[in-house]
Amino acid sequence: MRICLVSAEIAPFAKIGGLGDVSAALGKYLKENGHDIRLVMPLYDTIDRAKYDLAPVKFAQNISLWMGKHEYVIHFWSGRLSNGKTDVYFVQCDELYKRGEVYTSDPDEPVRFALLSAAAFELCQKMGWSPQIFHANDWHTALIPLYLKSLYSWDRLFKSAKTVLTIHNIGYQGNFPARIINDLGLNSFYQLFDSYDLFHGRLNFLKSGLLHADKITTVSPTYAREIQTPEYGEGLDGILRKRSHDLVGILNGVDYEEWNPEKDPNIPYPYSVKNLSGKKKNKQVLLQKAGFNAADSDRPLLGIVGRLVEHKGFDLMMDCMEEILTSYELWFIILGSGEARYENFFKELQQRFPDKVAFYNGYDYALSHLIEAGADIFVMPSRYEPCGLNQIYSLKYGTAPVVRKTGGLADTVTLYDWKTQTGDGFVFEHYSPEGLKWALEYALTTYPNKKAWKKIMINGMKKDFSWQKQIREYEKLYASLAGENK
Ligand code: ADP
Ligand code: GLC
Repeated sequence: MRICLVSAEIAPFAKIGGLGDVSAALGKYLKENGHDIRLVMPLYDTIDRAKYDLAPVKFAQNISLWMGKHEYVIHFWSGRLSNGKTDVYFVQCDELYKRGEVYTSDPDEPVRFALLSAAAFELCQKMGWSPQIFHANDWHTALIPLYLKSLYSWDRLFKSAKTVLTIHNIGYQGNFPARIINDLGLNSFYQLFDSYDLFHGRLNFLKSGLLHADKITTVSPTYAREIQTPEYGEGLDGILRKRSHDLVGILNGVDYEEWNPEKDPNIPYPYSVKNLSGKKKNKQVLLQKAGFNAADSDRPLLGIVGRLVEHKGFDLMMDCMEEILTSYELWFIILGSGEARYENFFKELQQRFPDKVAFYNGYDYALSHLIEAGADIFVMPSRYEPCGLNQIYSLKYGTAPVVRKTGGLADTVTLYDWKTQTGDGFVFEHYSPEGLKWALEYALTTYPNKKAWKKIMINGMKKDFSWQKQIREYEKLYASLAGENK
């Protein structure tokens, strides 16, 4: 199949969170299965062109692209994903992407990503390539279905193209004042947008995409159900209920070539289900790195890696971590950056419990692997979680996840049951400090039982969330759409 996937993040070129991982993985595994998949993203100035061996696409330079009354001149570059096989095209538009960061709060933020969507069509035209599927991701590229129905509908190249829009996180919708419609080149197609919103002076990128995409996906079956309720729908549940026949939840996979304790170059001691001994050694390395006394390594080590943002459940930790840290002998290592209130919380926690808590404030790829490998327990108490990747890495690394039963966390982690010895983590239901405390205490009191703990580790390590498996769901979806063309 011919698939054009457009995304604001594609790892390793630009990755803020899981969107970067998933866009790259779709590119890699669809290619592996023989599809003609081409990826499109912005050429942010943070991308090192020499390091990634990017080259200008000769036949796609100096292209004039009008967005309303403003002319942008764009140039395309090309490169390959780390697999060396999948083509990635980069849109160079210095006026928009030379900002030193991927996302901004600049007033032209909607134009930065609307242009990316329009540019994908321009590129296809230059290549004379006719995708059967345009795959958009999150609000940034949610206008693709609208561009297909408006500015590019005249082109026979796109006559049978269908659109898929994946919601990676409904919490980010791209809400802007309605007047920006003039800067998107779509003012004569205002009827494509939600008229109620326009009347009230608003324009919502994600909502617009949900109205027009042929199929909508999200990144776990549970989240697909949740976002159709007012509690999780962030105002878009009504549209999603209307479109429920076209909405499907496909769980994200994991790239086990990158996340596998048997051959992870970022961890000093490889280990596997058959031989777990390396895990304890990695724990000691991690403890030493954090400046703790590793001799006493029988204490459980709790880890966190992630963006420090509201929906990840840190409010609950603010209410119960102090008590847990006072009552139990443990270590707690956190790696992340994000909102100041959470960064300050972890800084203060480290000051109050210097021999128990270490906070790495930043982004560190190698350390994220070492934490997955060295920790015993991984904490992810999200208020909502579309899929979540870290808890799936944790399962593979024998690091028992403590999670809330929501979205992808509910679909990947199973509560440990003493009687049947089934399960691989500690799952709580209600979003409350008591809920989290219950799950943490369940984990901490189970940990000393070596036999039970080993069982939990092995149960998790044996689970298979590989992309090889998950990619079939996307293939089925694309095929069903392409079938409609015949
Ligand atoms: P989200 O996309 O909501 O941030 P996911 O769990 O889907 O959550 O994906 C997060 C990805 O970003 C994972 O690959 C995780 O390892 C990575 N990540 C997040 N924060 C950091 C950090 N501070 N350092 C290294 N990697 C990080
Ligand atoms: C989003 C979600 C996360 C998901 C990721 C990749 O950032 O917050 O849960 O795993 O996208 O789909």
